[in-house]
Amino acid sequence: MTTVRLNSADPVSVDTDALIVGFRPGQDGPRPATGAESLDAAFGGNLATSLSSLGFSGKPGELAKLPTFGAVQAPVLVAVGLGDSSDHESLRRAAGAAVRSLAGTARAALALPSDDDAQAEAVALGALLGAYGFDRYRTGEAPKAPVSEITVLSGRGESAAERAGVLAESVSLVRDLVNTPPSDLWPAKFAEIAEQEGAKHGLTVEVLDEKQLKDGGYGGLVGVGQGSVNPPRLVRVAYSHPDAAKTLAFVGKGITFDSGGLSLKPAAAMDWMKSDMGGAGAVLGALVGIARLGLPVNVVGYLCLAENLPSGTAQRPSDVIHSYSGKTVEVLDTDAEGRLVLMDGIARAAEDDPDLIVDIATLTGAQIVALGWRTAGVMANDDAVRELVVEAATAAGEGAWGMPLPEELRKGLDSPVADIANLHPERFGGMLTAAIFLKEFVPDGVRWAHIDMAGPAYNKGEPYGYTPKGGTGAITRTLIGLAERHASI
Ligand code: BES
Ligand code: MN
Ligand code: ZN
Repeated sequence: MTTVRLNSADPVSVDTDALIVGFRPGQDGPRPATGAESLDAAFGGNLATSLSSLGFSGKPGELAKLPTFGAVQAPVLVAVGLGDSSDHESLRRAAGAAVRSLAGTARAALALPSDDDAQAEAVALGALLGAYGFDRYRTGEAPKAPVSEITVLSGRGESAAERAGVLAESVSLVRDLVNTPPSDLWPAKFAEIAEQEGAKHGLTVEVLDEKQLKDGGYGGLVGVGQGSVNPPRLVRVAYSHPDAAKTLAFVGKGITFDSGGLSLKPAAAMDWMKSDMGGAGAVLGALVGIARLGLPVNVVGYLCLAENLPSGTAQRPSDVIHSYSGKTVEVLDTDAEGRLVLMDGIARAAEDDPDLIVDIATLTGAQIVALGWRTAGVMANDDAVRELVVEAATAAGEGAWGMPLPEELRKGLDSPVADIANLHPERFGGMLTAAIFLKEFVPDGVRWAHIDMAGPAYNKGEPYGYTPKGGTGAITRTLIGLAERHASI
């Protein structure tokens, strides 16, 4: 595991294996950003020229590595471009990309702007998120290990580093869960991990097994899970604080593998469906983070866990299921299973009398069509709630955008036999119709937001900034931010 500390040492003399330095574009080539001014002199004023000759100008995302030949204590200098912006996300990304490029190196020190606690935290967090690796399944020659000791060169106190450490470890837990193959992460196993994490961090964890789900009337979880030999679970993870005035409920989609069920997915759409539990992962990661930060707010998390497989016991298209809310649902497409487990989770969460319910799900391919890989869709039954969620995500550097719930789309969910159908005949606006379906299970007067992160939960492409390939841990920090926004004092 990677450690981070703050240290007010001079970048020129800091004892480390690689010195990461932020640069901004200037008139005569790149110039060191705040916190790295002393370097120019150490290199005899030649740094800008050398970096320019490597094609480095200081634009965001640029990276250049050079040997220091004794000009400073560190043997290697990593120049990272910051561009002209000084928002926290550009610091996180620069720190993350630089640390990521140093896999195989033990220690790194970062001379990036960190004049206040928030900046120092952003640098530390980006660095830690960039120092992620998942090598549990490697034998033989393992990939290069991530940087293990990070020093942020800043005069600020240690609290920024501690907070960054908690946030990064929460995200890391979620990335590990998403990256774990479904052969090693089925609903009961996920529930066991939630119990272990709960015990470590003082959370109250209750698990409903398949019999309790059946007896309790959770028709959605039972129906989606009945095709698999690995039965479904509903996990309730609760955190409470004596000074709390507000209660939040987070409900996560936890499909440990989504084959589509009898409405089987094509192979190319299936090989990454181990990531379909990213919502439940984010909920568990956020609860661990909230507990470790000791935030004065109550939070209950629901992990809606099932494996969606076809078999002789699987639910069929045209089956009608009885949801926990009492409403009946005609299952027209067994691949629209996320909304079926969430409808039960949302209805159950409402019984906790929360001030706000937020559900998080890798719910629709339509989210990716509408907003791309990196921007989650946010829908809500209240404009202010939607804006608050988008604001919390933006502050965390997690892409999110508000989307509408057009009333006219509800009609398409009418079923000839049940109260509602799980599929809209019209493909267009699929992210919105999924949300309109979920809204039917939110009791009147309860504030609710829905985050569709089908794209952001999993990075099929190359790593960028602090984001690795595979599980990203997306929205975990947004949820922690929402808890902070509802904390007392
Ligand atoms: N888990 C998928 C959505 C998904 C797609 C997540 C791509 C991540 C990447 C979900 O269960 C699903 O299959 N949705 C269907 C819904 C449709 C049948 C209404 C979809 O989007 O195609
Ligand atoms: Mn599906
Ligand atoms: Zn799914």
